[in-house]
Amino acid sequence: MNVIVVKNAAEGGKKGAEIFMTAWQNGAKVYGLATGSTPLTTYAELCSSAIDFRKCTSVNLDEYVGLGPDDEQSYAYFMQKHLFNQKPFAHSYIPNGLAPDLAKEVAHYDQIIADHPVDLQILGIGRNGHIGFNEPGTPFDSTTHEVQLTQSTIDANSRFFANEADVPRSALSMGMASIMQAHQILLEAYGDAKADAIAKAIEGPVTEDVPASILQRHPNVTIIIDEAAAQKLH
Ligand code: F6R
Repeated sequence: MNVIVVKNAAEGGKKGAEIFMTAWQNGAKVYGLATGSTPLTTYAELCSSAIDFRKCTSVNLDEYVGLGPDDEQSYAYFMQKHLFNQKPFAHSYIPNGLAPDLAKEVAHYDQIIADHPVDLQILGIGRNGHIGFNEPGTPFDSTTHEVQLTQSTIDANSRFFANEADVPRSALSMGMASIMQAHQILLEAYGDAKADAIAKAIEGPVTEDVPASILQRHPNVTIIIDEAAAQKLH
């Protein structure tokens, strides 16, 4: 793992965008994308860069069940607002949280991932070590699946909703095995609240109790963290 410690999220975003730019210049065509606060500075840097995704494909990690792209809290809406409006892709895939048959949608999404192997995957990390919506205990061999969100994740995400009760209780997420198939992975984390998860993910045992710890087994991972998120590393 290549761990880069930066001063803050603004500096991290610059480094993150450089990694995207290098991958793009080297011919990367498929980008695995994440939502949440973490990738915002990277997306902002990309939006003001010369990168051109119009011949590329994006495949997002996850989406809430029950929210469609017109819902401001949906991940589809988030992507449109923070990246796709400024930097469109030829094709952008996000799990359909409104699919009438979720089992079918899950199988369909696995097929999309199989047809579009991810060259560069960007990830955030949850306070409990989750990646995508793969909560602690998710099997390492999981593919796309429906997830019941833990209270910790519901609480963390409630800041984006009018109140906690509005946070969807389930989501569709790429699985652990799907994420590990990406050729290159970039994980970013900023702030004190991520320090425990980062220490466990980088220095702890590889265990399904800390989903991000699986990244220790991936051959091409870069982790960008600020000093606050790095404070519990030895
Ligand atoms: C989002 C995602 C999540 C977030 C994680 C951190 O698509 O998959 O795993 O990356 O919950 O969220 P933030 O960045 O808001 O702290």
